Amino acid sequence: MERRTIGAAALEVGAVGLGCMPMSWAYTGSQQRGEESLRAVNAALDRGSTLLDTADMYGPFTNELLVGRVLKERRSEAFVSTKVGLLVGDQHLVANGRPNYVRRACDASLRRLQTDVIDLYQLHRTDPEVPVEETWGAMAELVSAGKVRSLGLCAVGARSGRRAGARLHDGTIRLLERVQQVFPVSTVQAELSVWSAEALDALLPWCAARGVGFLAAMPLGNGFLTGTLTPGEGFEPDDLRARHPRFTAEMMAANQPIVVGLRRVARRHGDGVRPVTPAQVALAWVLAQGPHVVPVPGTKRERWAAENAGAAGLRLTAEDLAEVAGLPGALGSWD
Ligand SMILES: NC(=O)c1ccc[n+]([C@@H]2O[C@H](COP(=O)([O-])OP(=O)(O)OC[C@H]3O[C@@H](n4cnc5c(N)ncnc54)[C@H](OP(=O)(O)O)[C@@H]3O)[C@@H](O)[C@H]2O)c1
Repeated sequence: MERRTIGAAALEVGAVGLGCMPMSWAYTGSQQRGEESLRAVNAALDRGSTLLDTADMYGPFTNELLVGRVLKERRSEAFVSTKVGLLVGDQHLVANGRPNYVRRACDASLRRLQTDVIDLYQLHRTDPEVPVEETWGAMAELVSAGKVRSLGLCAVGARSGRRAGARLHDGTIRLLERVQQVFPVSTVQAELSVWSAEALDALLPWCAARGVGFLAAMPLGNGFLTGTLTPGEGFEPDDLRARHPRFTAEMMAANQPIVVGLRRVARRHGDGVRPVTPAQVALAWVLAQGPHVVPVPGTKRERWAAENAGAAGLRLTAEDLAEVAGLPGALGSWD
């Protein structure tokens, strides 16, 4: 698989990573497919998808334990990225950016992951009670202590400001500029996909200009862009899509032209022997947004982990990219 160099620490990873979240969190059936999840992680590594993206919060904790079982056997083949700063509370998710907590959480993640160093440690959410410089400073100390190789910031939850006319990630960029004063940022993780491309406006160029890597979260549109979901499918209450405005039967039907367009591009590349899927086109589109971009498609299935890794070999033509750019914008928003 093509390799990409990300961030201040110039670390190399396979161009397509693996999002481990659906193995333990946010989707129906997580936590119930442990053995298949292990096979999915192994299948990704076998194909050069070295970046395994997890978080202490997924499960909570069980996702790191699962990834740790693979790392125990294959540490040298993997690039492990985990996250700190977001906890599962009784009712809501709770941010905790206190330096003491960050230090303890890192030691606990190292134990669960069965490793002595985390390749990329990401701040999952900022804590409104703690200046971000303090949290980031504690994370930087972990680099000095040799427990962590590089630092990243997540901005997946960014939704504010649009009503006031601001771009989605203006706040993210202000935050990045603050933490850069303390210690270099290696990566930003934010949503980027064919149907959620706001990061292209300012965040991606900001990263490119500063040598910061970009981890594209939800690159398959939570599964919609793969074309394997049908409108009216219905989601269990424990599935994030049960509350997602784009996953009502009406919006899924209204957004079908996007999947139809991806399928059209896929047909131009595949043949009877080696078919190309809409999921692979969606990932190849993300890869085409810049050499500093690494998608982390999430799956708990061996077959899909292999299929997604295969997207690294798909080169979209200028005609393909123009066609995807011309697809209708997604209907259904959080605002
Ligand atoms: N930093 C953050 O706050 C944050 C937030 C969200 C996500 N993320 C990261 O981004 C990663 C990706 O996000 P995501 O997993 O929510 O969304 P995603 O990658 O856009 O989509 C995942 C969904 O697509 C399905 N899928 C995957 N590959 C497929 C294929 N080839 N064909 C058909 N269906 C396929 C999965 O099914 P199965 O589950 O059944 O395999 C899952 O339901 C996460 O795993 C996580 O690492 C980070």
